[in-house]
Order: sequence, then structure tokens, then C-alpha cells
Amino acid sequence: MDKLIIEGGMPLQGEVQIAGAKNAALPLMAAALLADGQTTLHNMPSLVDVKTMARVIDWTGAKTTFENGSLTIDASDINRIEAPYELVKTMRASFYMLGALLGRAGEAKVSLPGGCAWGPRPVDIHLSGMRALGAEIELDQGYIIAKGPLRGNNVVLDFPSVGATVNLLLAAVRAEGETVLENVAREPEITSLVSMLNSMGARITGERTSTLKIHGVDSLHAVTETVIPDRIEAGTYLVAAALTAGDVTLKSAEPEHLTMVLAKAAEAGVKFTVTTDGIRVEGRGALRAVDVETAVYPGFPTDMQAQWMTLMTGADGVSLVVDTIYQDRFAHVSELQRLGARVSMKENVARIHGPVRMRGAQVMSTDLRASASLVIAALAAEGTTEISRIYHLDRGYENLESKLEMLGAKIKRVSD
Ligand code: EPZ
Repeated sequence: MDKLIIEGGMPLQGEVQIAGAKNAALPLMAAALLADGQTTLHNMPSLVDVKTMARVIDWTGAKTTFENGSLTIDASDINRIEAPYELVKTMRASFYMLGALLGRAGEAKVSLPGGCAWGPRPVDIHLSGMRALGAEIELDQGYIIAKGPLRGNNVVLDFPSVGATVNLLLAAVRAEGETVLENVAREPEITSLVSMLNSMGARITGERTSTLKIHGVDSLHAVTETVIPDRIEAGTYLVAAALTAGDVTLKSAEPEHLTMVLAKAAEAGVKFTVTTDGIRVEGRGALRAVDVETAVYPGFPTDMQAQWMTLMTGADGVSLVVDTIYQDRFAHVSELQRLGARVSMKENVARIHGPVRMRGAQVMSTDLRASASLVIAALAAEGTTEISRIYHLDRGYENLESKLEMLGAKIKRVSD
């Protein structure tokens, strides 16, 4: 397995191109199955999770082709309404195939996704919503077997789940009649999915609000779309620039998608300016300890929780980091402690004492965003850090080493 060797202490300087958003691209790929034609998605990030989703889509008989940062999905001939365990277990977002295949073919056989490093991740909200839309759902040897026809209905989500909102949208656009989805997720990635579905001929209103109204249609046509920039990648580089006292422009970053992160960064003393082509971040002067509590959008994103914790190791004072979305998403804490961070845990509350000058050590990645927090810590630490199991990083960060090298980092990938 590959690992990263990072020599810390270099301020990051220069420009980094923010890629298309993983969590926007994956739902758009699933939505392409609703149209029997050739969909083109531009600004696709080159990521393991995107390639996995392409394999899941190919499994149905659709054909995916990557070329120069764009992906075409020809869904003219779907001959298998299944998403197999071998693929779904590696990437939870494959579960979007439930809504896509129900919407396209009126039936689906999709493996239940597994848990992950930080605990179980249920799909009860997805399934109760599908049942409300008239789907017959049964569990057979780890697979969800779903059968339509789907009829519009009023569905109130117990929690504004991103994945359940995606799945129910993909199913409802083809359901007979009117569907009202209440308490939906409002992440930018959901708004981009609504926009694409409407371009395909769907009739959805209420985007950016907690209630979406969908009037079912008989068919949807293929379109060309561009994936929105990745707000979490942007937030990750923002933290790296701030903690290394650097000066980095996040090209194509969309400030509107980062309002809470930018507000907290400003409170912590991070200097940034919004420019025509992105956000310029300057890590100047001392950082201040600032508490964050994760929440659904537009609150502080749980996907930035680990990275923020690393920033707070360099801040002056005691800060609290609370994750209300995933109570046990703290696998990175013990690894940060190996680098010298002073973090104590009580349930889903981390208390960080700073500033601490971390020192290089051997650490291990446990999940995607935890790995990012360790890379940032290594960039700021004194000496050399070795990060193992970096396959987690490759799932969600495009060309990480080359982007960081361009910014002056001393980083290299070696195989074990
Ligand atoms: C999406 O996961 C993201 N993944 C995650 O990003 C992100 O952390 C998460 O949303 C929260 O923002 C993608 O978009 C591919 P949820 P998802 O359903 O859809 C509970 C990354 O780093 N829940 O909004 O799985 C659940 O347990 C990844 O890029 C139920 O109880 O998240 C959690 O506590 C990691 N029942 C909360 O809701 C359900 O049926 C939020 O989950 C569904 C969810």
C-alpha cells in the first residue's frame, strides 16, 4: 500500500485549481441513467470514487467514457437493474442506484452499503421514503429488492439526509403525479442535482429550500452539465494555507458554498479575499481558538470537522469541535496526538489546546477527511511525517501530491 512522506515547515504559496465536487459528480452520474441517451458531464474530478461509480453504472449495461476531464454516459441500453455488493461495499454513494434504477426501470436490486470507519451509516430514511412512493421493498441476502410502480406522495424525511434526498429525487421525478419532499438536505450538491434533473425535463420546484415539489413526468432526456467546484477540497486547502502561514489562491472556489467555513476562518484570524477567480488565503499572524459544531448545510460541514481540528492545534487557546452529524467521526484524534496535538475527547466533543508545534511521526489514515487532516498537520509539523493507508485520500482528493508540490510542499508518495 502507498504512503506519503511529508517534510513539514514550508509555507504553501501559489495557486491551486479546485476540482469538480465529488459529492456533486456522483449524484449527477446516477441521474444520467434516467435518460435513454448520451449525457455529458464536464469538470469531472479524477477520483477513485468517481471511477467506482462509473463501474457501477457500466454494470447496468450503460457505457461510461472519460475524456479530458469530461465523462459521457450512454444509458440507451440498460439490461441489468442491479448494483452488486462488490462495488457498493467500497462506496456508499453506489446506493443512489436504488433511486436511479427505480426511476428508470421501475425496479432495482441494490446491495445495502456497509458501515465505515466511524460507525454504522443506516439507510432507513431512504427506504421509508421509497415505500411512501409506493415501492415494494424487501431485503434478500443483503440486497434491497425494490419494485414500482411509483406514485407521488408527501414524504417527510426524519433527518435532512443528503443521500436520502438524492435517492428520493431520482425516484420521484418519474413517479405518477405530485410528490412533496419535506425536510430535505439543502447542500449545493442537491441544488446542482435539481438543476440537472430540470434540464432533463423534470418538473421540480423549491430548490435551495427544505421542501421540494416534484411533478412526475413520463420521460427525461440526456443533457450536458458542468460539475460545481468542490467546497470541501477548497476548505481543505484553505486550512492548509492558514496553518502553514502561506499565501494560496483557491482557483474556482465558490465562496457562496463556504459561508460558514469562511465565517469561522475569519473569526480565527485567517485572512482571505474573494477574487474574480476564487479565494486568496493568507495565513498571517496568530490564529485564535474558535469553537465549531457541525450541522447540515448551511451549517459547518462535518466533512470539514477533521481539517478544522488540525487548524485549531495551531490556534492560541482552547477550542471545542463538536460533530452532531456523526457522533464518532474522530478516528483522526489519536493520530493527531501522535504528532503532538493536545486533544481530549468526551463523547462527540473534542477539546483542543493550542498552540502546539507538532512534530513529525508515523501516522495512519482511517478515512477520507481524517487523512486530509493528517496531511495538513504534517505540512505544518517540524520534521518528517509518514502517512500510511493513503488509498483513503485518493477517493476524494484529485492529484493531491502534485497540487501540494506546486504550492511548495515537500511531499512524495512511496509504495510500501
Ligand atoms: C453525504 O453522505 C456525503 N457523501 C458525506 O461526505 C457527508 O459526510 C454526509 O453527506 C453529511 O454531509 C456523499 O455525498 C457521497 P447523510 P450521506 O445521509 O448521504 C444519518 C465525504 O467525506 N442517516 O446526510 O451518507 C446518518 O447516519 C463523505 O465526502 C440516517 O440515520 O450522509 C448521519 O448521521 C463522507 N438514516 C446523518 O444522517 C438514513 O437513512 C447524515 O447522513 C440516512 C442518513
